Amino acid sequence: MPTTVSTEVLELAVVGVGLQGEGHVKCYDAIPNARVVAVCDANAQRAADVGARFGAEVVRGGYEELFAREDIDAVSIALPDHLHRDAAEKAFAAGKHVLLEKPLATTVEDAQAIVAAQKASGKKLMVNWSNRWMLAFSQTKEALESGALGDPLYCYARLNNTLYVPTKMLSWSANTQLPHWLICHRLDIARWYFGSEATRVTAVRRYGVLRDRGIDTPDLYQATIEFANGCVGNFESCWILPESLPWIVDSKFQLICTQGYANIDPLLPAHVRAGETKYEQPGYLAGDVMGEPTGFVRQAIQHFVDCVLQDREPLITGEDGLAITRTLCAVIEAAETGQAVELSW
Ligand SMILES: NC(=O)c1ccc[n+]([C@@H]2O[C@H](COP(=O)([O-])OP(=O)(O)OC[C@H]3O[C@@H](n4cnc5c(N)ncnc54)[C@H](O)[C@@H]3O)[C@@H](O)[C@H]2O)c1
Repeated sequence: MPTTVSTEVLELAVVGVGLQGEGHVKCYDAIPNARVVAVCDANAQRAADVGARFGAEVVRGGYEELFAREDIDAVSIALPDHLHRDAAEKAFAAGKHVLLEKPLATTVEDAQAIVAAQKASGKKLMVNWSNRWMLAFSQTKEALESGALGDPLYCYARLNNTLYVPTKMLSWSANTQLPHWLICHRLDIARWYFGSEATRVTAVRRYGVLRDRGIDTPDLYQATIEFANGCVGNFESCWILPESLPWIVDSKFQLICTQGYANIDPLLPAHVRAGETKYEQPGYLAGDVMGEPTGFVRQAIQHFVDCVLQDREPLITGEDGLAITRTLCAVIEAAETGQAVELSW
């Protein structure tokens, strides 16, 4: 979808300026037709640091105070997974467009409430499954649409983290689960490619390594998801890989079609850097070039800005988020009960 730059400027705020929210502020700062007016975060020091660095006002009275402001048209919400509903409902009630970090929510009830609030407001909602803007995923979608691969049949999707993520990076890992934290990224891609909804889910999970460290969330999930059109996806995620690895994300995606195959391995070709004591694999899919953010993270955020300014529907909507939440809650139920879960749409 081509990006046309409007002369209008979208005035925004960012709620939650942790790792991801700071990235949103940085991207908006680099996008010519966006301006971050204000930020807020429960961690006052964090908000002050990010606000000062990007010249944004810091709102101390919580997101309600921020949503009450008339000089803000749209908000990015980058709160922990389980805290999306209250902020999103209040943002829509205040008449703001919302770019909501993935996942839409961690329960079906919360997801339905967010979509209902958005529909009542008539404002735009995009859920930030930004991996769709990675070159390899986007090119594979184009190849599918051109017919070059035939029809999709099956995918294998692995997305893992090292132990650093649940034990050090996130303070709230016990409040989410791998389906909402990682598998959702690859389910979003699979639904996009298959053009179909999940109808039957089986899954297993295991606890152990993280519980031993006082974090009550499963170490790993494996799920087989059957779709209405016959496509099948195998999804697996863990977040207990050793921290000695040179990266914190391990990913592989294979798509098998009637007339072709795509293998998307974002770790290859790798950018490798070896110092005297450390072997590193720096990110090359998104990052700064000459101090300016580039890559899929920025492009997804640019898409949201363009959709609001040009009154277009975002590529990833609340309905997508709701379908993904329903499917992933079925994955969790299937793993909990050991029974297959059927879904109807
Ligand atoms: N799109 C992606 O690829 C991607 C990558 C990482 C994280 N995420 C998502 O982004 C969201 C945030 O994740 P993160 O890694 O930045 O987490 P984080 O813990 O680094 O940041 C969350 C921030 O929210 C703040 N916060 C918590 N409660 C608040 C409240 N009531 N009001 C205001 N601020 C509050 C915290 O102080 C923290 O600074 C999650 O939903 C996560 O799944 C998306």
